[in-house]
Amino acid sequence: MPCWNSNQYEERIDRGVCKIEEKKAGNRNMDEMQRPIGVFDSGVGGISVLRELVALMPNENFIFYGDSKNAPYGTKTLEEVRKLTLADAEYLRSRNVKALVVACNTATSAAIHILREKYQKEIPVIGIEPALKPAVSVKENPRVLVMATPMTLRETKFHNLMQKFQDQAEIISLPCPGLVEFVERGELSGEALEHFLKNLFAPYQERKVDAVVLGCTHYPLLYEAISDIMEGKVTLIDSGFEAAKEMKSFLTREDRLSEADGKARFYVSDSVDGFEQLGGRFLDKDINGMIEKIDIEKYAL
Ligand code: DGL
Repeated sequence: MPCWNSNQYEERIDRGVCKIEEKKAGNRNMDEMQRPIGVFDSGVGGISVLRELVALMPNENFIFYGDSKNAPYGTKTLEEVRKLTLADAEYLRSRNVKALVVACNTATSAAIHILREKYQKEIPVIGIEPALKPAVSVKENPRVLVMATPMTLRETKFHNLMQKFQDQAEIISLPCPGLVEFVERGELSGEALEHFLKNLFAPYQERKVDAVVLGCTHYPLLYEAISDIMEGKVTLIDSGFEAAKEMKSFLTREDRLSEADGKARFYVSDSVDGFEQLGGRFLDKDINGMIEKIDIEKYAL
């Protein structure tokens, strides 16, 4: 393939420099492919998306950022979440990522359009939203519960999504303020969580529910506890796999998949110790010594 337009190509062949240019371009592409994919969430929940990304693209390098100091996002104001989300993205951009995954439904609903406007020319930005499509297909006219943060369920993005599917199912919003905190504390079982979930689902125990959408990336980390409360009778659906698939098809289409031995690095805005234990447990991997604390305020716009 000519490395210049045809005239320049001929000229440069004459001068014998084209091969060198081609070689340089080749190296540049290798570097480009090995640039990490940036993934962020308000805290440890985004790990449920990261593990899908790693499973689907084991050769990619990843930088995960969890804004644990500012979690939860879902009960903050829209303005606050937009500001935090922009700082998260700015931090990852400063790490030279080749793509951005917003592993947070709340941040996606509050700010994906702002992030796309700001970064999409340079890097692809992929968000995440409650997986209604597979949920409404579990059977004909199912009853679907959508668990998410108050902000995700309140924002226009979700209302538009719900409208698309509401003739195929009864879709019920179930805001879950307080649930993210259990995950951030590492409290994935026990009496307090059981009590919380029982109260949350009490109105739906009698009305038969067919599917529960885990519309917050923290909730897949409570899969067992939620499944136990629903006595294993419903299908639990999360969106991490869909986001990972979308990222993989983008990189495949653009021929930008890495061929290296993939590595992940972790950054948090709060305690490294807490994240080390939880993140490691969710990834089923020892991540000790792979986490650093950063000062996210430096990236606020
Ligand atoms: N994990 C996030 C989500 O998917 C954010 C939860 C929160 O911080 O409230 O919505």
